[in-house]
Amino acid sequence: MRLTAPRDGPLVRRQALSTRLTHWIWAVCLFFLLLSGLQIFMARPDLYIGQQSGFAFDNSILSIGASYIDGAMRGVTTVFGHSFDTTGWLGAIWGSGNLEAKTFPGWLTVPSYRDLATGRVVHFFFAWILVATLIVWLLASFLNRHFVRDIVPGARDIRELGADVADHAKLRLHHRRRYGPLQKLSYFFVLVILLPLTIATGLTMSPGMNAFAPWTLDLFGGRQTARTIHFFCMLSLVLFFVVHVAMVVLAGPWNELRSMITGWMRVEPEEGGR
Ligand code: HEM
Repeated sequence: MRLTAPRDGPLVRRQALSTRLTHWIWAVCLFFLLLSGLQIFMARPDLYIGQQSGFAFDNSILSIGASYIDGAMRGVTTVFGHSFDTTGWLGAIWGSGNLEAKTFPGWLTVPSYRDLATGRVVHFFFAWILVATLIVWLLASFLNRHFVRDIVPGARDIRELGADVADHAKLRLHHRRRYGPLQKLSYFFVLVILLPLTIATGLTMSPGMNAFAPWTLDLFGGRQTARTIHFFCMLSLVLFFVVHVAMVVLAGPWNELRSMITGWMRVEPEEGGR
């Protein structure tokens, strides 16, 4: 089992400046987008499928709220018709010794108190920076061949996928010049599918975009479905983030971080030659 970075291998240039800069910019953007997005979600803490939402419709798939049960306030989260007591975490939150009806605790939103207007300003500000950063990453990655060489999985990656999954299961992590098959697949999924889908469903919720391109509403099955897809994209990004940071820690955080800050990474001795 090799959990830490190799000590005896050569230092190789692993990440281009454009890859490093864009990576840290979108990490900051996604942090603020998540917390401001949860602030916006608090204005209507329910998710629906379809074109409509409201009391007259039975199309909610998730709902977070507070209820009085035996005279006491409880936080209740309902997912696909199944209700869970989430007091203290979702729906009913402790504040100055008392439970208050609030979707999320203050540390999960920006701003920490209820303020939809500021949440929207923060969200749209970082959303446009994220869009610009992705465009820069895409252009730079086409020009320096990072996209084709390191992100798009090739036939060889598909062939080696089984062995790579087995190595990860045994926590035998490799330190090579190039990304492994699982790395390529997960980065491809995030950069080419998840982030563009998050941006497209976000734009579909904008009235200005609906006037300019009404077909986006049909494409995503209506505004409410677009909002639900946007929410699940957010959950997937959070899941990716947790696994991503865990892998960085397991692979040897200093070597990994050095590669994403300075561009240089220490690899296995047999990776020495070009
Ligand atoms: C939401 C936040 C984040 C997202 C979406 C994200 C996504 C990604 C993606 C897509 C790549 C590949 C980039 C490319 O090759 O063009 C990458 C690489 C990397 N990320 Fe992140 N990242 C995030 C946060 C972080 C954090 C907080 C850390 C540090 C703990 C980190 C450390 C790294 C490292 C070290 C690499 C290079 C891996 C390697 O060379 O093997 N990332 N990340």
